[in-house]
Amino acid sequence: MDLHVSASVYASNNQIEVTWTPTLVPCSDDFIGIYFVEIPRPTGACDYFDYEFVQTNQTSMWWQMVNLRRPLEFRYYSRDHNCSGNYSFAAISPVVQPLNYNEPTQLHLAYGDRIDQMFVSFVTNSSSYIPQCQYGLDPSSLEWQMNGTTVTYTASDMCEGKANTWGPQTFIDPGFMHTILLNSLRPSTTYFYRVGTDEHGWSSIFSFTNRPVNEDSEVTLIAYGDMGLSPVELGAKSTIDRVRARVMSTNITCLLHIGDISYARGIGALWDAFMTQVEPIASHVPYMVGIGNHEYDHVTGGEKDPSGAPGPGGFRPACFDVGPIHIVYYSTEHDFRHSSPQYAWLEGDLRSVNRSRTPWLIVGSHRHMYTSELENPVDLIKLMLQLYLEPLFYKYHVDVNFYAHRHSYERSCPMYQNKCVDDGITQVLIGMAGQDLDSSTYSGAEWSLYHDQQYGYTQVWANRTYLHFTYYHNADDAIVDQFTLNK
Ligand SMILES: [Fe+2]
Repeated sequence: MDLHVSASVYASNNQIEVTWTPTLVPCSDDFIGIYFVEIPRPTGACDYFDYEFVQTNQTSMWWQMVNLRRPLEFRYYSRDHNCSGNYSFAAISPVVQPLNYNEPTQLHLAYGDRIDQMFVSFVTNSSSYIPQCQYGLDPSSLEWQMNGTTVTYTASDMCEGKANTWGPQTFIDPGFMHTILLNSLRPSTTYFYRVGTDEHGWSSIFSFTNRPVNEDSEVTLIAYGDMGLSPVELGAKSTIDRVRARVMSTNITCLLHIGDISYARGIGALWDAFMTQVEPIASHVPYMVGIGNHEYDHVTGGEKDPSGAPGPGGFRPACFDVGPIHIVYYSTEHDFRHSSPQYAWLEGDLRSVNRSRTPWLIVGSHRHMYTSELENPVDLIKLMLQLYLEPLFYKYHVDVNFYAHRHSYERSCPMYQNKCVDDGITQVLIGMAGQDLDSSTYSGAEWSLYHDQQYGYTQVWANRTYLHFTYYHNADDAIVDQFTLNK
């Protein structure tokens, strides 16, 4: 049996069709996988980068390509002994490889500290040339240019196995990550840009609209947590498809992904796949991420984790203004007790918010402060968040607290310490973006105004006096819960 491919070269996010003439009736777990060419064929069945099961009478399948900066091939593996034995290598495709090993891939945007700044980042296979971003107000005239910087990491930088062991399902060379900081951007202005170098080639031209500067503006945010990537998680695909359509059709100011981002869990290539999948979103609106427990999976080797150290590159609690909203990300993966540096930083930031300039105050983190799902045992970090941070947020009149970690959606009344109060915080659990779903039963807590366990995403629209929150199901893109707050 031969596997044929529709192209021998590809660019990131291209589709390649694999076709074959069936010569055997497949077992239910026969599969076609995509492999690094150096993986041994007879013994390497399980060393795929990705795979899909073969159905009876199937003769073709489509693959969305991730530029892993190396030659790849498709292989068909079939189970021996009437589908009860080991996998045997049955067929192979011609080698497919990136048209450009230094294609700018994984483009994404993030806010800088200042309102006139934007970070533009991408990945290639080389650090030989200074990365550049050409940008302007007209796609036919990218009149300005900024240079950036390049970093990478090696297996020895990772804390522990499997992240520091080479292999298609462990560490792979991540390429080189380039970041360019654009300055002096005008507010509420659309810029067109491309990244790359003359030597290695340029990306397509993308666009973003910088955030508004004044408190009388209106903004629209998308928010979720716990997504992962497709096809590993089908829910992630439905979120990416819905959010991508919304970002293309609506004026979205930025996106908040509050932790548990790719679920790579030490499989380096899944970061390439995740960043490739979100590129259509993240190249168009700033993709602002917070840390979750799956960005912090190691249990040994923590001395290599830069986030506990004062040097560059470590995790910092982050805050930023988007129009009339001040947003603070804090970390539930680092100490937040009264004596911690994070608590001091958080209080300092909350105290300094000018509520006449940013009337709305939204905080976000990964782990939940509340859920009415019955937990056994009760989550201790939840109780610690209620003990240490809820009084702080109440004192500084936080409007909305976003979190995830539980894979479900739940929205409270304005509340404080388990009770609805007029001047309380609206607690919103938004961990329903793709990484499977909870099935726990609910306690019937009085503060819980709506909850469900479906895939979806949320949106916040705000001007200086009015905030409208909506929760959408991916299945039909319909609004299933909403609330408004007024100043
Ligand atoms: Fe989590």
